[in-house]
Amino acid sequence: MKKVLIAYASRMGHTEKLAQYIAEGVRMSGHEVDLKKIGEIDDIQSVADYDGYVFGCPTYHRDMTGGMKTFLFKAENLNLMGKIGGAFGSYTHSGDAPRYVFDTMQYVFKMDMSELGSLNVLEDAVDTPDGIKTGQDYGRSIGAKLPA
Ligand SMILES: Cc1cc2nc3c(=O)[nH]c(=O)nc-3n(C[C@H](O)[C@H](O)[C@H](O)COP(=O)(O)O)c2cc1C
Repeated sequence: MKKVLIAYASRMGHTEKLAQYIAEGVRMSGHEVDLKKIGEIDDIQSVADYDGYVFGCPTYHRDMTGGMKTFLFKAENLNLMGKIGGAFGSYTHSGDAPRYVFDTMQYVFKMDMSELGSLNVLEDAVDTPDGIKTGQDYGRSIGAKLPA
């Protein structure tokens, strides 16, 4: 059994919900998950040593949040090279943030990123059967990438 960290930003709770569905998918694939809001992570070393990392961020002003940018600067010190990764977020119209987070994980941290790319779910769809399944499937795909 491997351990996955899902660390997310969420102002109004939609990305948080999506984080929970992704966590369910990872657990369904037989792995352990910790869910943490990035604002509550004081010491970046407290999130070292996971086997996989999935970062979540909603899009505000066609960008990721300031909190997520700060978190990614800190995460640079974790040496995530080769670790399994994914990124997600909810949005209403442009949905830029998950792609930017995914890019940083892929090109700067050099992580082994999900073949599905980033997961972007329309805010109104997060809590629908389709949204729940999409989140769970993304979590399962992360779980499936983890070495046994
Ligand atoms: C001030 C403001 C700016 C926003 N800007 C964007 C945007 O540029 N693109 C977009 O797709 N959604 C935008 N949204 C919508 C949010 O991404 C959407 O409500 C999302 O579900 C919020 O996630 P959260 O509940 O996890 O905070 C904006 C929302 C607000 C309130």
